[in-house]
Amino acid sequence: MQSFTSITTLLLLSFLQVILAGPISFVPELVQLGTRQTTTTVSCAEYSMDSNYTVIGTNSTYRAAFIQASPAGTDPTTSILDTATKKFMDANMMMDKALNAECGNLSALAMKEAPVNFTNGIVGPFTIKKASAGTRVGSGLGSVVVVATMVGAALWL
Ligand SMILES: *[C@@H]1O[C@H](CO)[C@@H](O)[C@H](O)[C@H]1NC(C)=O
Ligand SMILES: *[C@@H]1O[C@H](CO)[C@@H](O)[C@H](O)[C@H]1NC(C)=O
Ligand SMILES: *[C@@H]1O[C@H](CO)[C@@H](O)[C@H](O)[C@H]1NC(C)=O
Ligand SMILES: *[C@@H]1O[C@H](CO)[C@@H](O)[C@H](O)[C@H]1NC(C)=O
Repeated sequence: MQSFTSITTLLLLSFLQVILAGPISFVPELVQLGTRQTTTTVSCAEYSMDSNYTVIGTNSTYRAAFIQASPAGTDPTTSILDTATKKFMDANMMMDKALNAECGNLSALAMKEAPVNFTNGIVGPFTIKKASAGTRVGSGLGSVVVVATMVGAALWL
């Protein structure tokens, strides 16, 4: 009986210790977390995706081709582009020094690669095909016939 009581007391004491010590030992971690969150909350993967969508979404030529090629339909596709652009702008990703140091300047990469892709008949994950002159005149994209390929679409949409 005596030893049972001591064990109970010991357990209670260690519980108290945990409760008392707990909050104190967590304080530095919380402070660290707070500091980290004020600098960067954006992952490189998200920065990459939002950069690419922003470049496509803010250029009327790329935007029209992307919406045309997307199997998701106009409204959902428009929303994807505009949501990414808003995130990109709100977080000021292009100018965020920490983010660009960590990931490389993915805004510059997107601006450089989007025209290269377009020249090669690619917008984002979609392959578009330039039609020969004279065909499909009067379509929304003039002489550009857009053929969506599903390859990679799941990653984007
Ligand atoms: C964005 O575009 C760059 C340049 O083409 C490419 O390397 C990167 O994989 C793209 N990011 C995503 C998420 O598709
Ligand atoms: C990233 O590149 C863009 C375009 O070249 C540039 O305007 C911007 O200042 C660069 N960002 C950083 C953090 O250097
Ligand atoms: C949009 O992209 C097209 C095709 O690369 C380019 O000719 C045009 O100058 C771009 N427009 C803007 C506003 O950057
Ligand atoms: C360029 O095309 C590749 C596919 O060939 C794609 O993964 C990448 O995201 C595209 N980059 C941009 C900026 O659209």
